[in-house]
Amino acid sequence: MSKNFINATIFTFLVLGFFAYVCVYVTRISGTSEGEVVAGVNPEAGEKIYWGEGQCGTCHSIGTTGSAIRGPNQENLAVKAEERAKERGLTSGLEYLVESIVDPNVYLVEGYDKIMPKVFEPPILLGREKILAVLSYLQTLGGEADIGGIMQFKDKIPEASKKKIIPWVPPIEVDPKKGEKVFFDETREAACSKCHIVNGKGSRVGPELTGIGAVQTPKYIIESILKPSETIVKGFETMYLITTDGMFYNGILKSQSDEEVVLSVDVEGEIVEYGFYPDEIVEMQKQNVSMMPGNFSDTLTTRELYGIVSYLLSLK
Ligand code: HEC
Ligand code: HEC
Repeated sequence: MSKNFINATIFTFLVLGFFAYVCVYVTRISGTSEGEVVAGVNPEAGEKIYWGEGQCGTCHSIGTTGSAIRGPNQENLAVKAEERAKERGLTSGLEYLVESIVDPNVYLVEGYDKIMPKVFEPPILLGREKILAVLSYLQTLGGEADIGGIMQFKDKIPEASKKKIIPWVPPIEVDPKKGEKVFFDETREAACSKCHIVNGKGSRVGPELTGIGAVQTPKYIIESILKPSETIVKGFETMYLITTDGMFYNGILKSQSDEEVVLSVDVEGEIVEYGFYPDEIVEMQKQNVSMMPGNFSDTLTTRELYGIVSYLLSLK
C-alpha cells in the first residue's frame, strides 16, 4: 500500500469519526426543557437578541440596517412570510416563521443554500424564550407582534439544554495559531487568505470569515473546506462568462454596473481581476460549482485541516 493511500484512509477515518461524534454531541444537548417563563417575550427583547447573541445580523440585514448578505434581507419579512405560508399550505405567516427557525432546511428561499444554522444548537444556542422573543420581533417587520399567537407555538421550539455543554473536542488537538499560519501562508497555492478576509487581512473573493465561529458548527466548517460545492454562499457563486471574441472566464462577480462587469478569476492560484464592457459579453451565467478549490483533502494534512478548523472556530 502506498503512503498516500494510508494517509487518505486515516484522513477519511478521522473525518467520519468526527461526524459520528457531532451527531452524538448534538443529540445530547438538544433535550427537552423543564418549565419556562414568559416574561421576556416581546419585540424589544427580540430585537436585541437578533442583533446580539442571536447572531442573526451576521447573515441577515433588515432594509438598510446591517450589511450582511449571506441570508435574505428581512425587510417586510412578515408580509413575505404570509405569502410563503400560502404558497406552501401553512396556516399562517407565523407558522412559516416558526418553521424557518426550527427546521431551516425544510424550505429554502430561492437562490440560497443550506447555511442557516439551527439557532437553538451550538454555537448560537438560543434558549426557547429568546427564540420566542425573536419571533415577536420578526412579526413587527412589516406587521404586528401577536404574543398570544406566538405562545401557541411554544412547544414547537426546542429548548437549548440547561445541562452542561460539552465543548467540541477535535480528533486531533492543534493550536489555532498553527491553523492561522496556514490560513495566511501565501506561499501555498491555495492559501485561504487569497480569497477570504479575517479581521481586515486577506482578499475578498469569497465571504469574509470574521466571526464565522460564532454562527457555524465544526461540521459546517469542515464540510465547507472539504466539499465546497455542497453548499454555496449566496453572492459568491461562480460566474461563467463568454466574450464576443470567444474567450471564456470563470470567476466571482466583484462588481457590476452599466459601464463594467468585474470578475475575480483564479489563474493558477493567483486571483486576477478582469473588467469587461457589457457589450463584449455574450453570455454570463451562475454555476453550481464553488470557486473554492475542491482538493483540500489532498493539499492539507490532517493536522493542518484541524489547525484551520480550530482557528476558524476561535473567530467569535
Ligand atoms: C450563517 C448565516 C445565518 C444565520 C446566523 C441566520 N440565518 Fe436566517 N437564513 C440564512 C439563509 C442563507 C437563509 C435562506 C435560506 C433558507 O431559507 O434557509 C435564511 C432564512 C431565514 C428565514 C426565512 C426568510 C424568508 O425570507 O423566508 C428566517 C425567518 C430567518 N432566516 C431568521 C433568522 C433568525 C431570526 C436568525 C437569528 C436567530 C437567523 N436567521 C440566523 C442564514 C442565516
Ligand atoms: C480561490 C478562492 C478560495 C480559496 C483559495 C479558499 N476559498 Fe473558501 N470560499 C471561496 C468562495 C468563493 C466561497 C463561497 C462559495 C461557497 O460557499 O463555496 C468560499 C466559502 C468558504 C466557507 C463558507 C463561508 C460561509 O460564509 O459560510 C468557508 C468556511 C471557507 N470558504 C473556508 C476556506 C478555507 C479554510 C480555505 C483555505 C484552506 C479556503 N476557504 C480557501 C473561495 C476560496
